[in-house]
Amino acid sequence: MAESMTGLKRSHRCTEVSREQIGQTVTVMGWVQKRRNLGSLIFVDLRDRSGILQLMFDEENIGKEGFEKAQTLRSEFVIAAVGQVVKRSGAVNEGLKTGDIEIKVTDLRILSEALTPPFPIEDGITTKEELRLKYRYLDLRRPQLQKILMLRSKVCASVRNFLAEEGFLEIETPMLTKSTPEGARDYLVPSRVHPGNFYALPQSPQLFKQLLMCSGYDRYFQIARCFRDEDLRADRQPEFTQIDMELSFVDDEDVMGVNERLLAKVFKDVIGVEVPLPIQRMTWQEAMDRFGSDKPDIRFGMELRDVSDLVKDCGFGVFTGALENGGSVRGINASGQGHMPRKKIDALVDFAKGCGAKGLAYLSINEDGTYKSSFAKFMKPEELDAVVSRLEGKPGDLLLFAADKNTIVWNVLGAIRLQLADQLGLLKKDEYKFLWITDFPLFEYSEEENRYVAMHHPFTMPAEEDLPYLTTDPGRVRAKAYDITLNGNEIGGGSVRIHQSDVQEKMFEALGFTQEQAYERFGFLLNAFKYGVPPHAGLAYGLDRLIMLMAQTDNIRDVIAFPKVKDASCLMTEAPNVVDQKQLDELGIALKK
Ligand code: AMO
Ligand code: AMP
Repeated sequence: MAESMTGLKRSHRCTEVSREQIGQTVTVMGWVQKRRNLGSLIFVDLRDRSGILQLMFDEENIGKEGFEKAQTLRSEFVIAAVGQVVKRSGAVNEGLKTGDIEIKVTDLRILSEALTPPFPIEDGITTKEELRLKYRYLDLRRPQLQKILMLRSKVCASVRNFLAEEGFLEIETPMLTKSTPEGARDYLVPSRVHPGNFYALPQSPQLFKQLLMCSGYDRYFQIARCFRDEDLRADRQPEFTQIDMELSFVDDEDVMGVNERLLAKVFKDVIGVEVPLPIQRMTWQEAMDRFGSDKPDIRFGMELRDVSDLVKDCGFGVFTGALENGGSVRGINASGQGHMPRKKIDALVDFAKGCGAKGLAYLSINEDGTYKSSFAKFMKPEELDAVVSRLEGKPGDLLLFAADKNTIVWNVLGAIRLQLADQLGLLKKDEYKFLWITDFPLFEYSEEENRYVAMHHPFTMPAEEDLPYLTTDPGRVRAKAYDITLNGNEIGGGSVRIHQSDVQEKMFEALGFTQEQAYERFGFLLNAFKYGVPPHAGLAYGLDRLIMLMAQTDNIRDVIAFPKVKDASCLMTEAPNVVDQKQLDELGIALKK
């Protein structure tokens, strides 16, 4: 039977009670974590989002009826307890913030009874995630998830404070809108008033924030929900949150400067981590050449080395073939791994194949300086020595090589590098290494569409020196774009935007859009720019990814209160779901069989 809390007012959260209140009467409320009966004494662990507090019941203090009521308490009952703070009668619990005190309860109310939960509400449980997501409201009671969501809230508060102090205005932009240009598939919302027409949910506030610059709100930010219908991965959700910003009368240096200060402040305020400024920078080309990735994890070395020049005339067809096709041969040194058993090497070869490689060549250096290798027999000793020395190989090292098109070689060795670092325990979650990546190519060639597509989005400013090649040789044009990466994750990205209509027109031309097509999609922006537009630039963080790293979890679902699973469904609400025929009729929608 549920009682009311009339006449009671919570005085403290569980762990706000401390030895300083000894002798005082407090009123606490929360969930029963555990009840222990010790004959004439009953102990209850009371839980709320702050933590755990021990309640103690004996007949002398609470009376016979109250004591009997305490005997009916079960896990997850919601209760209110009034009592005196006392020093613990039993042993001090060092593991608890409130481990040296307890509440001698004089009044108990059961505010709500509870069914037995389908899994224990505690950290470290092995319950399958599907079940936990179905009962997300229960999983969210666990301290681990509560801590993460509290951290997330603190990050948002810290971001808001910092940006407000720096003169940014928080402005909302529409959710029901027109397709935005981030390159993923849109989520569409049918219009009832305009049958056959659809809104798109925003992939980002990109166009609106640029319009706000046209309107003079020279520093904007928003903690904005974004929607992208793309294949989900461990670090992607169909709806996710950006810390989005745009600034007028600035260049890339200004944007990077504000954001370095922002990151330093948030990391210091929320998790006490000092971010040394300035944050290191690397061009996209250097990142690819040294790490095989545009978001390199620089917590460890194991860098890629190009050996193409050393093997161009060798007798190994795999290497020379790749070079003849315009590719490269590159390797990494898994230092000290020369004794890796054949089986483990084979597993790495399979892993490489999973990343698109045709194979992975290896060479291990024995303690006596001789080599064991999958390709030594095709090479002259001096060629092998040159390759080994390029990779700074020492006895006991394992060298791994990929030969293919550059993009494949980078991808494969970049992934092998991470895989090995993981296996070797080189990835420390409490070490935070930020890195800016700059000078991205403006375009990437899409084999699928047979044309150049914008690597960032079509409003990104080309590097001034490369402007002459915009339509003649798009592949070599670099962008005034920057990504901020942390421990091998892209946590944010942005660019200086095009504000000159002649450059924008050339950009569309390079992308293969006609004037009409460009106006059809982005006419409102292009027209707005005709009425006076300031130079502007911006950036957006993936808030969820940032929180994942700050909370040291690998699972993006841990940092979102109500996340979706791989097939973009919600196991708790069972969305998406079928709708009534009446709703479809109103929208003028007929479903295909
Ligand atoms: P971009 O597309 O790079 O840039 O997105 C910015 C950041 O958002 C995060 N992110 C995601 N997080 C979770 N799930 C997803 N599906 C997902 N997709 C992206 C990433 C990424 O770095 N309008 C531009 C920003 C700008 O130019 O100002 C934009 O959206 O961490
Ligand atoms: P094969 O001659 O195909 O047996 O290959 C000899 C060695 O080269 C094996 O260790 C293969 O895994 C490796 N290999 C094959 N293709 C490639 C490639 N594209 N890059 C690097 N190594 C390769």
